[in-house]
Amino acid sequence: MKTKVLLVGSGAREHAIADALIAGGAGLYAYMQLLNPGIKKIAAKFAVGKADDTAAAVRFAKENSVEIAVIGPEVPLAAGVVDELEKAGIKCVGPTKQLAQLETSKSFARELVKKYGIEGGPKFKVFAKSNSSQIKGYLEELGEYVVKPDGLTGGKGVKVSGEHLSSNDEALNYCNEILNSHNSVVVEEKLDGEEFSLQTLTDGNGGFVHFPAVQDHKRAFDNDSGPNTGGMGSYSDSNFLLPFLTAEDVEQAKKITEKVAAAVKKETGTSYKGVMYGGFMKTAKGIKLLEYNARFGDPEATNIMPLLKTNFVELCKAVAEGWLAKLNAEFEHKATVCKYVVPEGYPDSPVTGKIEVPSVEKDYIKALIYYAAVEEKADGIYTTKSRGVAFVGVADTIAGAEKIAEEATSMVKGKVFHRKDIGTRQLIEKRVEHVKRLTGTEFGTAATLKPLYTPKSEPMRVAGLMSGSGSNLRRILELQQQLKRQGKELFKVVMIFTDTADEAVCNAKRIAEEYKIPYYCNDMQEYYKKRGSNRRDMKIRQEYDAETAKLLRMHKADVVALCGYMSIITNPVIGSFLTVNVHPADLRIKDGSGKRKYAGAECVKRAILNVEKEARSTTHIVTEEVDAGQVLLVSKPVKLPKGISNGEIDKVAHELQEKLKEEGDWKIYPETLRMLAEGRLAADQKGAIYLDGKPIQEGHVMG
Ligand code: AMP
Ligand code: GLY
Repeated sequence: MKTKVLLVGSGAREHAIADALIAGGAGLYAYMQLLNPGIKKIAAKFAVGKADDTAAAVRFAKENSVEIAVIGPEVPLAAGVVDELEKAGIKCVGPTKQLAQLETSKSFARELVKKYGIEGGPKFKVFAKSNSSQIKGYLEELGEYVVKPDGLTGGKGVKVSGEHLSSNDEALNYCNEILNSHNSVVVEEKLDGEEFSLQTLTDGNGGFVHFPAVQDHKRAFDNDSGPNTGGMGSYSDSNFLLPFLTAEDVEQAKKITEKVAAAVKKETGTSYKGVMYGGFMKTAKGIKLLEYNARFGDPEATNIMPLLKTNFVELCKAVAEGWLAKLNAEFEHKATVCKYVVPEGYPDSPVTGKIEVPSVEKDYIKALIYYAAVEEKADGIYTTKSRGVAFVGVADTIAGAEKIAEEATSMVKGKVFHRKDIGTRQLIEKRVEHVKRLTGTEFGTAATLKPLYTPKSEPMRVAGLMSGSGSNLRRILELQQQLKRQGKELFKVVMIFTDTADEAVCNAKRIAEEYKIPYYCNDMQEYYKKRGSNRRDMKIRQEYDAETAKLLRMHKADVVALCGYMSIITNPVIGSFLTVNVHPADLRIKDGSGKRKYAGAECVKRAILNVEKEARSTTHIVTEEVDAGQVLLVSKPVKLPKGISNGEIDKVAHELQEKLKEEGDWKIYPETLRMLAEGRLAADQKGAIYLDGKPIQEGHVMG
């Protein structure tokens, strides 16, 4: 039986949500303000009615016995549609009217953040008619400020000094004007930085799913000029960050959202179930919170819905029923660019008219198409006064996604326009430069970074060096095969080499035979014995490695992957070949003298003895000093047991190492090779590592 889902709303955001619901196996029941041609096509049933007519939406839901409702826009939330649906026994993804105040009342959100001591809020004051005489003084005190009507404004009532307000008098007049139609007005400190959207699903029960960060473009015209709009387009990156953000920035935004969710519960005693979409800004003083919305962003939802790998219907159930913490949501590691076509004259004086929209079938466009405020008539599609159609490109890089979106968008015929610059390298570099100027953070630019491996038309050639079971090499081979089946053979293991001839301990020959890969063995013990020396003699080691390097050259290896290789590896190999390894410990952790605390053998045991709370594995570049090279990927943590007696240490260490293999090494090592093969990992002149152009000083944490 299909789960019957009510979807309220009719924009591109809801079209993207509708696709995700259908993909999740839902029976779709759409309550729309305007008949969205895309949603109409896939809905089991639909009704058209006013956005704030909650009674009509509830009636439609009941008639069709829907189980669960997803609310797209803010207007029905503000009108209390969730309160009424819940009364009718329908579970909702969307907050009640009271909780939707997070969006509908700027003062509610600001006061909450202040009251609970949550970081990120700018200085602000709320004024009503009763204390409006103090506005002037506060404007003077702030110098630069933002004026916000305390209520829903469709993103258009917010005015910023220096942009929309040229003097304190003008600002004061605007405040008084607002107080004629609203109970209060918020005046706050003006912040400078780059904005980004972090959309989070929460069940009001401590469960959170944070979606990849997205950047919207509010201004109507290219180069961020012209009036503010509902959003002209947006982009996201394959690593779920944005080119001007570090992983820590996004972590900070997530932390703020989680704290605000907890504060909402404390303050109101009820659970916020739905989307908390935070508008954040990266500033010189860290991550600041501009606002919350109680719904997905439009266009931001069109970027992330196509990336969702987890069943969206399940996600909705988990939100509405309060077990979101049990779900592990996953997203495709792809970049996206969304561009909206809007009527000429939008937003101030839009002209309506017929448009021709390209199609996947006839025009071979690769973009996803999401309809917004258009009208389908007998002879075709017509624009209305709002945004028309969103086109979304999905690709490995932002540049690739931009190309796909731009190609489709520019094929629309009629009296429309779009922003050509969204997702282009030029505009993104401007954003990066802006943040760099403000924060002094160095982001590598395309000019100064050198990829660790530059992709070619042929798969990246990997040599596997091993001494033992080769379980990591197997995982690498499995990913190789999986990618090949998907038609994208990114890398290929071209030879296997072992330093031990003992087939009782080393699987190299078996794996090589199984996968039909050229196999070489040069028994190290024999090698030393013949020369009458011991294994510590580094000169002999270098001769040995020179022989290995010859084989690597013969097979044109691009990358050497150590897979449980027990010998120290020297310059003849690592000086000529990018060499990587995986280590069953967190190489980021340093001891008092700045040395890596868990480098070398026995690292797991030492971690247990040091009673770290958790262990992780890391992949790294191999340098001559053991485990000293740059960290690449970091696995999710594995909890360490507490209170181990001395007698148990060996046993526990062994168990933990096995667990770290499964949950750490086997996940991050193949992924490291994939990222290398995609050319996503690069280094600057100092050897600092970058992923997708952003510094990952301490490695990129997976998951
Ligand atoms: P809001 O509806 O609160 O998100 O405001 C709409 C837009 O006004 C934001 O996307 C920002 O571009 C701008 N804005 C809001 N608050 C501030 C602030 N404190 N400083 C600078 N710009 C702001
Ligand atoms: N993208 C702006 C909004 O959804 O409010």
